[in-house]
Amino acid sequence: MASKHQCLLYLAFFILSIWANQGLGRKLHETSMSEMHEQWMAQHGRVYKDAVEKAQRLKIFKENVEFIESFNNGAEKPYKLSINEFADLTNDEFRTSRNGFRASVVRPMRTTPFMYENVTAVPSTMDWRKKGAVTPIKNQGECGCCWAFSAVAATEGITQLTTGKLISLSEQELVDCDTSGEDQGCEGGLMDDAFDFIQHNRGLTTEVNYPYTGEDGTCNTKKSTNHAADINGHEDVPANSEKALLNAVANQPVSVAIDASGSAFQFYSSGVFTGDCGTELDHGVTAIGYGATSDGTKYWLVKNSWGTGWGEEGYIMMQRDVDSPEGLCGIAMMASYPTA
Ligand SMILES: *[C@@H]1O[C@H](CO)[C@@H](O)[C@H](O)[C@H]1NC(C)=O
Repeated sequence: MASKHQCLLYLAFFILSIWANQGLGRKLHETSMSEMHEQWMAQHGRVYKDAVEKAQRLKIFKENVEFIESFNNGAEKPYKLSINEFADLTNDEFRTSRNGFRASVVRPMRTTPFMYENVTAVPSTMDWRKKGAVTPIKNQGECGCCWAFSAVAATEGITQLTTGKLISLSEQELVDCDTSGEDQGCEGGLMDDAFDFIQHNRGLTTEVNYPYTGEDGTCNTKKSTNHAADINGHEDVPANSEKALLNAVANQPVSVAIDASGSAFQFYSSGVFTGDCGTELDHGVTAIGYGATSDGTKYWLVKNSWGTGWGEEGYIMMQRDVDSPEGLCGIAMMASYPTA
């Protein structure tokens, strides 16, 4: 009897911890996986077309819950996972719909000047949000245009630093109008090509003027000539040097490409992410600062574009100064920033 009660209690704690993460911990009873799935569907407004699809999604949901549980209860890691709005997607489905950095078609890195090459002193921590250079977290939805969100966040940053004005800029303009280079809207693109577009278009309009739809659309040329921010060009951070990346991020928000392909990344919830991940770059995000935890773990502060329900209110801390020159998940491989 005692062991059965312990087991139930354990199950109750597990469910409570998941629900507490979701702010749903009010009514607690012994909940089966399918009831948990129902709750989750209601919370995220998920509707399935029929019972067959629902059963398939429940199976994936269950596998994800079990993965998250065993991760959180397994060997001590400096970060935690939690159920989020992506809990009924397999990792393959998730990657296909969200990650749109076209690393497979990447040309060799051009050699650009690096204006921060001689920077010697940088602050020990940086958080560009505190300097007013970061707009609220956005959500790309089921469109692989992370590259646009990454380039826009870096452009919003340099614009605030040079003009003092924080203006939310348009990703949709890039999705619809920027067909230069490798950029193909929801099918993926590159931040450097987006910077080229913004430069040659002589600016980018505001989010308000050209709002996000999450779908490929026809370029609204009238809106796209109504510029709110301008850049002179862009520079690449010398590859495979976290030191060089630090010099850049100390001075402005920087677009970075990462390998965000793992299930741990899909369900990251808090703490310093330490992998596992490879270096097959498939996602564009923005490094908006850096620091170290009280126990000395150094991290990059990274803005993602998956809404505030993912990670730490939409942000992730990724381990910094790792052994390999590429950086964790390849973060130091293809970083770049717009110039004013
Ligand atoms: C960095 O210093 C070197 C040597 O003084 C100089 O040639 C180079 O132009 C400097 N780079 C920048 C970006 O100022």
